[in-house]
Amino acid sequence: MNAAPDAQIDATGRLRHLLTLEGLPRATLEGLLARAQAMVDAGEVNTRLAGIAVCTLFFEPSTRTRLSFQRATQRLGADVLGFDASTSSTTKGETALDTFRNIEAMGVRGFVVRHSDDGAVAALASAAAPGTALVNAGDGRSAHPTQGLLDMLTLQQAKGTDFSGLKVVIVGDVRHSRVARSDLHALRTLGAGEIRVCGPASLLPGASLLAGCIVSHDLDAALEGVDAVMMLRLQRERMAEGLVDSLEDYHRDYGLDARRLRRAASDAVVLHPGPMNRGVEIDDDVADGPQSLILRQVANGVAARMAVLETLLG
Ligand code: CP
Repeated sequence: MNAAPDAQIDATGRLRHLLTLEGLPRATLEGLLARAQAMVDAGEVNTRLAGIAVCTLFFEPSTRTRLSFQRATQRLGADVLGFDASTSSTTKGETALDTFRNIEAMGVRGFVVRHSDDGAVAALASAAAPGTALVNAGDGRSAHPTQGLLDMLTLQQAKGTDFSGLKVVIVGDVRHSRVARSDLHALRTLGAGEIRVCGPASLLPGASLLAGCIVSHDLDAALEGVDAVMMLRLQRERMAEGLVDSLEDYHRDYGLDARRLRRAASDAVVLHPGPMNRGVEIDDDVADGPQSLILRQVANGVAARMAVLETLLG
């Protein structure tokens, strides 16, 4: 499962597409985070992308990613074209590649693409004209790089930019999570001190993705003393039958509530990419509690996506 790390940097070392955080140079990642933070600080609105058109090409549902990319595009002065798969000619059998080529032929230079297939966005990027840039807004289980970016921005705001002393635990359905993959790549690149991964064995990925992580199936133990808890959605739409016994069992063993959260550091923060399954992986007392940064993540998504679009298209 590889979102083509080599395909996103051109021969001069410039970021041409953003397909994955895997293999993204630390300086590039830190540069995007610094630019996003500057945009947060300034409440920035500019016209750097005036005259450019960006299409949000989503073949899977989305609320946060699609709308925050649309908002980011507007705040940079560009035009946004929305694409709704359910009312498009894909319902008549048109392929994703033909759809992309036709919209590109209209003069659109930026594409924000979500697709259910691993590698689908990289495949479109390989067919793009030289001046066209693609952002992966989530492909299959493979990568969701702008979610990883906004998660790191949120962690930096809460805990500082030096991650060397940071203890982080990623909890839940890591196996099906493109968010977990992007977060793991980013945390490693930024030098996180300790990365724990916790979930039932049936929902953890192969060993290669977990290299260097402390793996646990016991949430109470995994939470002990951590600075940040990154909860994941149970992805029932990508899941074969039988990977979890029941939602009640899952909630009992891997659901985060305020009582359990007391095992983490007293100033620990909680992240969740959304959408949340309340009462399954996370309870209301945590999701809406004082340690939750979940809506901060959403707010940061606009700035993180502005930084990416400006870098690729500016
Ligand atoms: N976090 C995230 O990708 O949410 P959406 O599916 O609503 O975009």
